[in-house]
Amino acid sequence: MSKKENENGSAESAGECTAGDTKDDKGLGLGVIFFIVAFVICFLSGTLLFPKLLYSKKEQPFNFNHELHVEQTSDCESCHALREDGSFNGIPKLAKCQECHSDTPLGETKDEAVFAEMYVAKEKEVPWYVYSRQPDCVFFSHAAHTKTKGMDCVTCHGPIGTSTTLKPYEENRLTGYSRDIWGKNIWGIKKHSWDRMKMDDCAACHKTETGHQGYCFQCHK
Ligand code: HEC
Ligand code: HEC
Ligand code: HEC
Ligand code: HEC
Ligand code: HEC
Repeated sequence: MSKKENENGSAESAGECTAGDTKDDKGLGLGVIFFIVAFVICFLSGTLLFPKLLYSKKEQPFNFNHELHVEQTSDCESCHALREDGSFNGIPKLAKCQECHSDTPLGETKDEAVFAEMYVAKEKEVPWYVYSRQPDCVFFSHAAHTKTKGMDCVTCHGPIGTSTTLKPYEENRLTGYSRDIWGKNIWGIKKHSWDRMKMDDCAACHKTETGHQGYCFQCHK
């Protein structure tokens, strides 16, 4: 009996519901529109605005033209090389530049004028931002990759060696890390091996190359 009542009850309320639905149709339609508009706003601010707010752009001290300089030296090693002890010299010091440059510019470009005036004349090292800079806790060795395994610079850095202009350095406001660590694509899609250099990216290559993604102390100081 009580079961029947229940059935009746639910049938009634179901009836009410249907009637109610027709009444509220407009409200529902507006709700859907509101939802779509809110979604689009969130979506656009998440994909377009958030990355802009998350990263602050910093210009390099002046432009450095790799293509022009590689033509002059005909290799990378005259500026970037392993020292006798196997450590990597990184970005060359001012002394290296002074083999060719003095405080009287060789050419007539604005960038060279800045370089000559602000750095060569004052004997001041150029404070370059390093795009690939890893957090302090990370241990990385160029020798293990470029010497032992003969890996190409492009694999991890992309075509910087053939570039003519420098992009701005982008610093993550939360972590202080370079944008090149997490990469440009907020979906995490990676087209090139150099698009990103997070822990997972190091480990993924180690896994394919050695069958093991490595122990924590291998890459952490
Ligand atoms: C005349 C010296 C010189 C030569 C030759 C040279 N570089 Fe550089 N390289 C620099 C300087 C200066 C910087 C710092 C400014 C910059 O980021 O471009 C640099 C920066 C770099 C960086 C960027 C590191 C980072 O993450 O910020 C890479 C990668 C690099 N060079 C690769 C190469 C390769 C590959 C070659 C050879 C094809 C090469 N370089 C030849 C002077 C040189
Ligand atoms: C092997 C010789 C050589 C070395 C080493 C060298 N340069 Fe140059 N650099 C040149 C020549 C040649 C030019 C072209 C000058 C011209 O415009 O005719 C040039 C041009 C430049 C320019 C202007 C380029 C432009 O397109 O605006 C800058 C800036 C510059 N060098 C910075 C550096 C820095 C920084 C270093 C050290 C990391 C360095 N150079 C090392 C030979 C050299
Ligand atoms: C396996 C990936 C990999 C390869 C291959 C590689 N690099 Fe790097 N490079 C890195 C990483 C990671 C850093 C940042 C290291 C750090 O911050 O401790 C770096 C940093 C640098 C820097 C900045 C150094 C500094 O401390 O100021 C230069 C310049 C550079 N690399 C040039 C080169 C050149 C030239 C080659 C080819 C001969 C090369 N790299 C090959 C991953 C690589
Ligand atoms: C594209 C491939 C590749 C990428 C990317 C890469 N590595 Fe490697 N790495 C290797 C290979 C190959 C070896 C040599 C492994 C061996 O023979 O034991 C190696 C060796 C090393 C070693 C020396 C290990 C040892 O015990 O001798 C360290 C440290 C290291 N990688 C750290 C890193 C870090 C940190 C990153 C990311 C910032 C990175 N690697 C990115 C391929 C890669
Ligand atoms: C193949 C090299 C590699 C190995 C192995 C590795 N890491 Fe990392 N780790 C990195 C690199 C590169 C970063 C910085 C980039 C990033 O945040 O993804 C990092 C970042 C981190 C961070 C964040 C630190 C910060 O300041 O952002 C933690 C925590 C960490 N690792 C813990 C570990 C632990 C725990 C292990 C062992 C299970 C481990 N890692 C193994 C390369 C490695």
